[in-house]
Amino acid sequence: MIMENIALIGFMGTGKTSVGIILAQRLGWSFVDTDEIITRQTGMDIPDIFKYYGENYFRQREKEAIEMVCRLRKHVIATGGGVILNSDNIKKLKENSYLICLSASPEEILERVKYDKSRPLLEVEDPLKIIKNLLKIREPYYQCADLFVDTSKKTLKKIIEEILDQIKQRGIVECRL
Ligand code: S3P
Repeated sequence: MIMENIALIGFMGTGKTSVGIILAQRLGWSFVDTDEIITRQTGMDIPDIFKYYGENYFRQREKEAIEMVCRLRKHVIATGGGVILNSDNIKKLKENSYLICLSASPEEILERVKYDKSRPLLEVEDPLKIIKNLLKIREPYYQCADLFVDTSKKTLKKIIEEILDQIKQRGIVECRL
């Protein structure tokens, strides 16, 4: 079944934004990132939103961003790692998007995010422990995806080829790639 959008879900640091940008280019589609919409609309970066308004406020803005991107077509949508915690978000995304879940090992996630201060949930003394805990809690929610791609120890090029192969095989997008 041909889908209007592709949405990338998965934990922080699994490559949703990097993969999304290239995947959109390869498909000749546009790229949109819900975190970026939120920062643009609020005029604040994510750490400040969490610090001054709290996580619940962020989740509300995230829900609105999801409602907005679901009206698009021919977009690769990168979502925030916690987007799946709200079942309305999943329901909305599933209406016209093919959901691809990117994953990586906790150790690799830590390697990728450790110098990046933009993820307030990981600004803790023992980020590996938090990553493992959150992964355990979120694992069942990520199962809503249509396709799962492990990005551990893979180059961006390899990940993109794997996704393109799968979506071509499954007839998800109309393409001559
Ligand atoms: C979050 C992930 C972040 C961002 C926010 C909360 C989460 O996005 O939405 O910091 O709850 O996992 P990335 O997955 O793009 O890092």
